[in-house]
Amino acid sequence: MTAQTISISKLNNLKTWPSEGVSRAPYWVYTDPEIYLLEQANIFRGNAWHYLGMNAEVPETGDYKTTYIGDTSVLMVRAEDGSINGMVNRCAHRGNMVCRDAFGKAESLYCVYHAWNYDLKGNLKNAAFSRGIRGEGGLPKDFDKANHGLTKLRTEVLCGLVFATFSQTVEPLEEWLGEVAYGIKRLLTRPLKILGYDTQRIKSNWKNYHENPRDSYHANILHTFYGTFGLSRQSQESGMVLDKKGRHSCFYTKAGTEKNDANYQNTTSELRSHNDQLKLEDPSILKWVDEIGDGVSVQILSAYPSFVLHQIANSLATRQLLPKGQNQCDLVWTYFGFADDDEQTTQRRLIQINLAGSAGMISVEDAAVCEMTYRAIADGQVGNSFIEMGGVDLTSGGSSKLSERAIRNFWHNYRQDMNL
Ligand code: FES
Ligand SMILES: [Fe+2]
Repeated sequence: MTAQTISISKLNNLKTWPSEGVSRAPYWVYTDPEIYLLEQANIFRGNAWHYLGMNAEVPETGDYKTTYIGDTSVLMVRAEDGSINGMVNRCAHRGNMVCRDAFGKAESLYCVYHAWNYDLKGNLKNAAFSRGIRGEGGLPKDFDKANHGLTKLRTEVLCGLVFATFSQTVEPLEEWLGEVAYGIKRLLTRPLKILGYDTQRIKSNWKNYHENPRDSYHANILHTFYGTFGLSRQSQESGMVLDKKGRHSCFYTKAGTEKNDANYQNTTSELRSHNDQLKLEDPSILKWVDEIGDGVSVQILSAYPSFVLHQIANSLATRQLLPKGQNQCDLVWTYFGFADDDEQTTQRRLIQINLAGSAGMISVEDAAVCEMTYRAIADGQVGNSFIEMGGVDLTSGGSSKLSERAIRNFWHNYRQDMNL
């Protein structure tokens, strides 16, 4: 490669999607701050559902949780009628943040700046001094409180998971999830119980991470623990389900179903991640109990654009992906079990939580490769990733885990939403 200089106009011309389509992703789409701003409008405030949390996090009237959809601070609040209501956490007066704590309990939503006060569904109840004093000041006579509530989000709960959207036109949540909703219903059969949280800042673009749980190809190559200790291997019975629009993916693997395959044997001898010599001092972390009875030991479900639900052995967690500028993102892990788990089951989940999270035996490498990838592509040079495992289009690769089909489908939906 020879050194080249380029002009501003040529640089802008270079920002066209490669002619190969969804089997390529240009590196500028991860690093360009203008793209980041467009994503906020077209994806995060666009036609998509976003995970806010669990109904178990706001069990009683007045309980609230603050979180984000993209860059927008949002609230989910339990109202008197038991409903959970998503709304933008920004006062309708002059934009102050209404709730500051991560979690809280309130009789109403009170803005400290000028005491505008909202009910638990975000409707304005009172505005301080709205009638003025001694005939002076105050709000206009035709001020109608009904027009000055918090911005309300469409909110739905599926199996205890709360999602919200800015869109009035996107399909209802379950329809939007399509075939992949089964991965939620299969797993979340009972009321949930929160076990803990873990948030990690990843110094990469949010899409570097979003591609990762859609990429089953890397699972037992990058992750030594998966292959070596047999929780997930390419030689096991496994598969992938996408919804019809290809927005969402769900991978599953059944431990203990290895089939002898010469290609696998030949490949493992080259994999640094498959090490028959390694043994665990305490193998209790591997004591998986088939709670559902379908043999699935690992299920990784990824919903466009920012949600993951995992079952890794008996550990269960949601991962909420929050972009923080084009060059970093937060990944919020919520570990959970079920309200009726016995002590032994809770202990098993707590031990196996060590598999996941920012320092987990399995997932520690994911953030590391996202950061390494971002460092390698963020130099402004023209280039693109190569996404041809299993084929080049949206259907090729079928349900095989040795395929990048789910990533090609992500880019297809992303390009549609972004008009790229
Ligand atoms: S900004 Fe909230 S009351 Fe003024
Ligand atoms: Fe991974």
